[in-house]
Amino acid sequence: MNGIQQEEMDFGADSDRMKKKTVAGGVLITFEGGEGVGKSTQAERLFHKLQSFGIDTIQAHEPGSSDLGNNIRNWIKRANSSSPLAETLLFEAARAQLMFEMIRPALDRGKVVILDRYTDSTVAYQGYARGGDLKTISKLNQIATAGYIPHLTVLLDLDPKISLSRISNEPSLFSGSINPSRVDDEDQRRFEDLPLKFHENIRRGYLEMSKTESRWAVIRADQAGHRVADAILKRVRRLLIERGVSESTFKV
Ligand code: TYD
Repeated sequence: MNGIQQEEMDFGADSDRMKKKTVAGGVLITFEGGEGVGKSTQAERLFHKLQSFGIDTIQAHEPGSSDLGNNIRNWIKRANSSSPLAETLLFEAARAQLMFEMIRPALDRGKVVILDRYTDSTVAYQGYARGGDLKTISKLNQIATAGYIPHLTVLLDLDPKISLSRISNEPSLFSGSINPSRVDDEDQRRFEDLPLKFHENIRRGYLEMSKTESRWAVIRADQAGHRVADAILKRVRRLLIERGVSESTFKV
């Protein structure tokens, strides 16, 4: 018996009531979108909501959420130029580590994993925007993740003309992130400061990808935050019920 199972037993007579709800095989929910679309805020919001329903949930962010990932993130955000392939390999290394260290063990334990960026970010940024070969990226994504595909991918879609102006109003944070570990220095604004065309290509990439698989939920990010959150929760609720979570879980 491992430590956590023991901890759950120690609740004694109350253990059933206090045990968090899990889903066989786990559930992977990813958030995607360009800069400044409010992705991290919405991921965080969903995390707290699912926790409030008693669902065993964790959240993570790419690149980051591991020591290796944080170092890679800092390096990439400072580097002035690296080849699209080198950049892709670094993101994939961070991803492989996060999968090994956190995501796969959590899914094996039946948790809901909310991941802020995943494989589709590499396709959109290093593929569509930086011109990297899409087939190579897809192969590398497959290797880094051992083929784990999200059950749901939330794409927050916004015209970059609007999203980039949001960022310029928040100079000290990246993309409106509320996580203090992700506050960046001025010299770490590499992706945000690239020309509008770069960001338009990212958006085009995401929208094209979203038409190819049913796991995508495209949500307009120009609505009030609570409306975006409601739309996301509706999709997540449907998914979790399909995966065996009882409807009564979502009653407040
Ligand atoms: P960061 O501030 O960590 O996050 P975010 O924009 O998600 O709030 O910035 C990470 C940057 O790295 C962001 O500009 C997107 C980019 N990125 C890629 O280019 N490829 C990838 O595979 C991933 C995961 C991120």
